[in-house]
Amino acid sequence: MNSYDYTDKVAVITGGANGIGAAVAERMSKSGAKVAIWDMDISAPEAKVASLPDASRLFVKVDVSDEASVASALAATEAAFGRVDVLVNSAGIAGPTGPLAKYDTATWKKILAINLDGTFLTCKAVTPGMMARNYGRIVNIASIAGKEGNPNASAYSASKAGVIALTKSLGKELAGHDIAVNCVTPATAKTRILEQVSQEFIDYMLSKIPRGRFVTVEEIASMILWIASAENSFTTGSTFDLSGGRATY
Ligand SMILES: NC(=O)c1ccc[n+]([C@@H]2O[C@H](COP(=O)([O-])OP(=O)(O)OC[C@H]3O[C@@H](n4cnc5c(N)ncnc54)[C@H](O)[C@@H]3O)[C@@H](O)[C@H]2O)c1
Repeated sequence: MNSYDYTDKVAVITGGANGIGAAVAERMSKSGAKVAIWDMDISAPEAKVASLPDASRLFVKVDVSDEASVASALAATEAAFGRVDVLVNSAGIAGPTGPLAKYDTATWKKILAINLDGTFLTCKAVTPGMMARNYGRIVNIASIAGKEGNPNASAYSASKAGVIALTKSLGKELAGHDIAVNCVTPATAKTRILEQVSQEFIDYMLSKIPRGRFVTVEEIASMILWIASAENSFTTGSTFDLSGGRATY
């Protein structure tokens, strides 16, 4: 395994109590970072984050779709660790799968509010400090759904396409600073988010992956660790593929 130097870096990982975010938080912490785990549900985090040392790990309850809640989370993080150097946006929901013509409008709005507005609000909160200090690394977790579009998942696919576009915009906007804003587009990983969708949909997603298997959360964390490291001093506004050959762009 490669090592990346996160000594003295402060990282916020939204959705870090579970799944992909938990894998990122664990590896960043073990690479020297102080990690603030911003999650709506901090009652039962995965063991890999619960077992991290108290002095360098903070749990903050937050709803990323609520601007006031995000502002409180930032204040709590700055009080504990002083600043934010790295933001990984992993909080997200899939929502139920189903045809657009029958899709519940409130559910559409909720998916957009968490996946897209949440990414906007956390970026909005942390970037002033990053600009003032002239350092920052942001990685937004989009999805292959945002590149390809998945049938019966229009809200989720649209939210992730929005995250990709936000990343391109903000990356260009902040390129004059030592701030990198990038996103990743994973294929399906076996996390609890899959409890929200049908088995038929999971089978469809797997059938689309040329590698013939799901991506692991460790493989996703591995790519994110490099993108969010100080060593990534040039690439910004970019979309890193993690689709096992489904998308070759
Ligand atoms: N697992 C996959 O197949 C897959 C594939 C591509 C992209 N993604 C994306 O990766 C990200 C992480 O997904 P995961 O698979 O780890 O899912 P997960 O369900 O294991 O973790 C998501 C975390 O986000 C938190 N969360 C949900 N809504 C929130 C809110 N409003 N505010 C704060 N926290 C909130 C949850 O409590 C949970 O801890 C999501 O954005 C998801 O869309 C997942």
